[in-house]
Order: sequence, then C-alpha cells, then structure tokens
Amino acid sequence: MLIKSTHKNATKEHQITDEKIYYGRREMLKNMGFLGVGTLLGGGANAGVFDLFSRDEERPSVFQRDDLTYKPEGQALEELTPESKIISHNNFYEFGAQKNQPAELSQGFKVDPWKLAISGEVEKPLILDYDDLYSSFDLEERIYRLRCVEAWSMVVPWIGFSLADLVKKAKPTSKANYLAFETLYDPEQMIGQRNRRLGGGINYPYLEGLRIDEAMNPLALMSVGLYGKTLPPQNGAPIRLVVPWKYGFKSIKSVVGIKFVEKQPPTTWNILAANEYGFYANVNPKVDHPRWSQASERRITTGGIFDQNRIDTQPFNGYGEQVASLYSGMNLRKYY
Ligand code: MTE
Repeated sequence: MLIKSTHKNATKEHQITDEKIYYGRREMLKNMGFLGVGTLLGGGANAGVFDLFSRDEERPSVFQRDDLTYKPEGQALEELTPESKIISHNNFYEFGAQKNQPAELSQGFKVDPWKLAISGEVEKPLILDYDDLYSSFDLEERIYRLRCVEAWSMVVPWIGFSLADLVKKAKPTSKANYLAFETLYDPEQMIGQRNRRLGGGINYPYLEGLRIDEAMNPLALMSVGLYGKTLPPQNGAPIRLVVPWKYGFKSIKSVVGIKFVEKQPPTTWNILAANEYGFYANVNPKVDHPRWSQASERRITTGGIFDQNRIDTQPFNGYGEQVASLYSGMNLRKYY
C-alpha cells in the first residue's frame, strides 16, 4: 500500500510498500502534529471538503496524485481511479438511485454536528461527535479496490482508521457476535428518503452488518476521507465503512450507529431481495448475481470509450490471503 508522507516541505514524498504489509504500516496524523480537523472548518456546518493531511497553519498542502500507482504482488500495475470519477459515479440511494444524482443532490448535506453512537453488547458504549471522528483514532491512508455488485470497480485512496480499533475501544461482551450499522435517517436532507422513487424503493434507514471477526480483520476500515481530503457527501461523509473484500453495498455510508448484537442483523439489500443479495456478499467470481455475471468487472480508470478496461474478478476482490480463513468450512454458494 502506498502511504502518503505529509512532511510540510514534501509535495510528492511517498513510498510504495509490499502489498503484504499494506495495512500494517501506519503513518499517524497525530504524530505529525495533526490537530482536530473540526477546528479547520471554523464552525462551518456543511460537508465542504478540505485537506485532511494539512496542518492548520500551512493549509493547503500540495499533493500530486497523477503518478500514483500500486502493484499488488504478481499483478500488473493498478492505476488509481481519478478523484473526479470517484466523486461523480456513486451509489448513495438516499440522494437518488442514478449514478450522477448523489453528487448533485447531496451538496449542502450537514455533517457537523454529527453523532456516531456505539452501543449494544459492549462494556464501554461510546458517542463520537464530529471532531472525535478525526481525532479519536490513528488515521492512515489505504489504497483499496472497491468492487460493486453491478460489476464495476475502482481503486480508491481512502483515509480512515481500523474498525478493529473502534471495536477494541468499545470492549464487546461475550454476547457480541455481530455489528449492526445504520445510516443517518433525515428525510429533510436526504431526498431519496422522502421520495420513494428517487430512493430506489428502499425502506430507510440503510442498514448493514458484519460478523465480529470480520469487523476485527485489519482490512476493515472506517473511512473519513479520500484523496487526502475529507469525504465528500456523495461518498458517505463524514464517516463510512469500507470492507474491500465484499461487494460495495456492504460499505455503508454516513454512519450514525454501530450496535453490537448477538444475532445476525437485518441488512438493507437482503431485506429488499434476499435471493440477490446475501448477508456475506464476499466478492466471488464463481457465484453470479441473477442479473450480473461476477466473473469479470469493468475497472473505472482514465481509459477512453474504446478502452473497455474489462478484467477478471478475483475471489475476495484479491484479498483472499488476508480474509479467506474467516470463511473456512463455509459453503460460499449458500452463504453468498
Ligand atoms: N450506503 C448507503 N447509506 N446508501 C447507499 O445507497 N450504496 C452502497 C454503498 N454504501 C449505499 C451505501 C453501494 S451499492 C456501493 S457500490 C457503495 O456504497 C458505493 O460507494 P461510492 O459511491 O463511494 O463508490
């Protein structure tokens, strides 16, 4: 994984590390004298995007991104998906079910104040407010593939913290077998929640879930930014989950609740069409969705219209070495 340096004189300092340690190496914002980013906003209360890595006295820093690539072992170089695509081609049905709608219809979305409640089967329930999201945990940059069940994919440089760190802080009880995630419910702000057609017929709030051992896997990330900046509203501001070995619909956006529970929690797409969307949703080229073959995918890159960018899909989206053991002995056709 590529870790970005944020030294103040460095405009382009970065290094590419071996894929095997791409989640293991941490470049802590705190170590760099990072101050709570909430202070940078000067009281602004919307989801304006700003540079997460800059220090207040020297903002904005310059980060050249066009030459960034990374090379998973034994594979061709992968190109980062341009920021312009990542923030304009979205699934966020609360702001409309068309790919271009979230970017258009989420502007002005208020993220400060924010409240993320950690509750349920834990010894230490927590409430994280807006500033806490950026200052309670060690932030790092991670470049992950994002694979949508609709068979398109991107390569995204996220910023965030390990979900495992949050789990440890909450101290789950012995009854905590699953985590149930919930997106903000605010029909006044989210047009898809008040207009059923725009919202794709979903009953909101959007819900997702993970088994606790999945949540503890070092790859599971709570993201607060991408491309060196805070998350834009359309990508799930101010905080979203990123589970790179699962289809994108597991990566729930604009999270306000994480509840530790004993039984497998209900999840939005599974409620809507259980035969199409399972609870596990691990990327699997051998198990097709009824409407989309999962054998290959269209990688969204800078490629022009004649460049199809069609690539073979990898089991667990290429992260099998890190996560396959979570599912040993399970029939992945049944638990799709
Ligand atoms: N989270 C919420 N709350 N609502 C959504 O509609 N869509 C999911 C996921 N998280 C969605 C969501 C789907 S289907 C995908 S593929 C990813 O977000 C897309 O993330 P992106 O727009 O940042 O690429």
